[in-house]
Amino acid sequence: MTAPLLNVVILAAGQGKRMRSDLPKVLHAIGGKPMLSHVIDAARELSATKICVVYGHGGERVRESLAAPDISWVRQEPQLGTGHAVLLALPHIDPAAHVLVLYGDVPLIRSATLRRLIDAAGSDRLALLTAHLDNPHGYGRIVRHNGKVMRIVEEKDADDAERAIREVNTGIIVAPGASLGRWLPQLGNRNAQGEYYLTDVAALAAGEGNDIATAHPGANWETDGINSKAQLATLERIHQRNIAEVLMEQGVTLADPARIDVRGELVCGRDVFIDVNCVFEGKVVLGDGVRVLPNCVLQDAVVGAASIIGPFARLRPGTQLSEDVHIGNFVEVKNATIAAHSKANHLSYIGDATIGSRVNVGAGTITCNYDGAYKHRTVIEDDAFIGSDTQLVAPVTVGRGATLGAGTTLTKDAPPGELTLSRAKQVTIPGWKRPVKQKK
Ligand code: UD1
Ligand code: MG
Repeated sequence: MTAPLLNVVILAAGQGKRMRSDLPKVLHAIGGKPMLSHVIDAARELSATKICVVYGHGGERVRESLAAPDISWVRQEPQLGTGHAVLLALPHIDPAAHVLVLYGDVPLIRSATLRRLIDAAGSDRLALLTAHLDNPHGYGRIVRHNGKVMRIVEEKDADDAERAIREVNTGIIVAPGASLGRWLPQLGNRNAQGEYYLTDVAALAAGEGNDIATAHPGANWETDGINSKAQLATLERIHQRNIAEVLMEQGVTLADPARIDVRGELVCGRDVFIDVNCVFEGKVVLGDGVRVLPNCVLQDAVVGAASIIGPFARLRPGTQLSEDVHIGNFVEVKNATIAAHSKANHLSYIGDATIGSRVNVGAGTITCNYDGAYKHRTVIEDDAFIGSDTQLVAPVTVGRGATLGAGTTLTKDAPPGELTLSRAKQVTIPGWKRPVKQKK
């Protein structure tokens, strides 16, 4: 038997008032990526043939920023409940498909958990992702009879005995599309909240004599929702901890797994060491044996094997370092390639530059790449030595093996192999006296 097709409906119509932000809730980032994108990516990992996002008031911005050809968008206005939301998505759903309902504000759900839920549903059952909580307050409770799920009761509609149940509805369900098409139009809203509850499909399924399946998340944080900045921060830390664990499993040494932030993709070779408080954004590649010292920011950069970055270094997009390159404290590199064994160890800006091998960039060197209108390139050839406190006014080239004297402002190319410097001659004024304040 071939597995049924999978369609995914993502509920994201809630306003998220408690975020106290002008940004729609589901666009707030976890690991540098909007939380809704995490959910969409989980759906894609499951090879969903259709992804339908239900959005609400103010959600046009969500739609614009996350538009993709495989996503259809449904506006829910007004928001009459989770059952109403899925009902509005039905026209986009293939009745022959299984429908997985996810939440735009539950970003850390893992595809392995969802696969277990889909497997539990088999070919024709309703399956609920449920969790056992010590404190089930606020959640819908799973009501079983002789072990079989009979219905879900919302906290606000539950009696004392039901409120004592600790198996809760995480909200995530899988159901055959055709069954949802039958059940959803039957939902009513005569309940404590006056809403059309998606959870009422459980009673409808049980009423048809269906066995309702359940599966459970691998960890409870997988189904935690975000309603406030505090919850956003809590899940951010869990997400970062998960990334740190994957990196350590791959052999990366982290000085402190609680003090690394990866907001994108970090690819590491063997024997990479990362010290505390480093932030990685976009796609960063670290070669074998790279050491990143404390307090560095690396964005869309490639670092060659055995290179040393930091402490306090900043690699910006377009940085490409070959092997054994040293970028030290308060050095910023942008859109620049630096070949093997070159060093810029202190207080420099290297932007729009091509630097050869075995180049020494002295402390306080600046590539003056911007003339106020255009960016220009600086080229420094192999074995050049750039004296401290030098300004390279681009476009300009320093020839192979050239030396620039400290304090040079280079406006014309420096010939290979020669010493070039731009400095007023040093003079000493004999007998000169410092001014002294007269006592009155
Ligand atoms: C829901 C479940 C509850 C479960 C809990 C888990 C129902 C009736 N109850 O309750 O059993 O324990 O989630 O967190 O489903 N949304 C829409 N349109 C709407 C209403 C909600 O898109 O009309 C979205 C929200 O943006 C949110 C999600 O659905 O992402 C859940 O809505 P919420 O009101 O937070 O559900 P709960 O009342 O917590
Ligand atoms: Mg609600």
